[in-house]
Amino acid sequence: TAEPLQRQFDDTIARDHRVEPRDWMPDGYRRTLIRQIAQHAHSEIIGMQPEGDWITRAPSLRRKAILFAKVQDEAGHGLYLYSAAETLGADRADLTERLIEGRQKYSSIFNYPTPTYADVGVIGWFVDGAAICNQVPLCRSSFGPYARAMVRVCKEESFHQRQGYELLLTMMRGTEGQRAMVQDAVDRWWWPSLMMFGPPDGDSPNSAQSMAWKIKRHTNDELRQRFVDMTVPQAERLGVRLPDPELRWNEERGRHDFGTPDWSELQRVIAGDGPRNAERVSRRRAAHEDGAWVREAASAYAAKQAARAAG
Ligand code: ACO
Repeated sequence: TAEPLQRQFDDTIARDHRVEPRDWMPDGYRRTLIRQIAQHAHSEIIGMQPEGDWITRAPSLRRKAILFAKVQDEAGHGLYLYSAAETLGADRADLTERLIEGRQKYSSIFNYPTPTYADVGVIGWFVDGAAICNQVPLCRSSFGPYARAMVRVCKEESFHQRQGYELLLTMMRGTEGQRAMVQDAVDRWWWPSLMMFGPPDGDSPNSAQSMAWKIKRHTNDELRQRFVDMTVPQAERLGVRLPDPELRWNEERGRHDFGTPDWSELQRVIAGDGPRNAERVSRRRAAHEDGAWVREAASAYAAKQAARAAG
């Protein structure tokens, strides 16, 4: 019977110890983790595209080198996360198939266009800032390989966030046109960034169970609030306006009040009908197909090495 095993698992969670891949775990726990980690990995990989578009057009060698390093980091995060999913028995090739067939999700945020170079800065500031808010608590997630992956990922995300903010500080010291470009990017990315944290708590079907299992440590709304509180002073320092007339400091709560994102937009984008969904997925599919010969060669090489070692 699974009862003693279930008790042991419950005890591990209650004591804030880590669940490791070889430990017994409930099927639902495994499924939830595979879902979240795969989605997270897909987001990192798809997330290379919006900014990757600017690598060939970066305004200087220095900016190009920074952007290159950043986009490469995203690839690393994705691969690292696929490895974490594999420790749960998921198959990486299968996960990729699910992504390109639209059967598994990735973050809504990467379905928006990047028409100007200021978008690179604002993605670093908002999107990587939001990723840090969301992922720092995941360093204490109950599943060991996921939590440990987050430690490294968060260190790199913090570099990404700073490079974005530094880029924007530089642009804000530039011409009137550059300042307008930054403000325009801020206006376009603010609300989608708030949506990254997921639906409001009342409409978040997975939160309660994921919190009970300590996979998630905070609710979507808690993390969204934390992001707003963190970002407002940064916007003031930068000299941009956040596009929310309801945004103000609430003395009693000791936090900012803010407006309500357009949740129907989030639903549309998640369902595949965002401004760039089709393009993102078709590019991922093309890259996967173009890379078939690399995977075949790598497998053939690995098989040869294994045969040699055995012989
Ligand atoms: N974009 C796409 N899908 C979303 C988003 C979003 N912004 N927010 C929620 N969803 C999906 C959920 O995956 C879930 O779908 P599913 O049940 O079919 O898997 C559904 O909407 C309902 O949401 P929740 O019940 O709130 O789901 P969950 O508890 O998984 O919370 C969250 C969503 C907060 C995104 C969580 O999965 C998480 O913390 N993931 C890890 C972080 C991550 O994936 N970040 C990716 C972007 S950051 C980056 O890569 C730079």
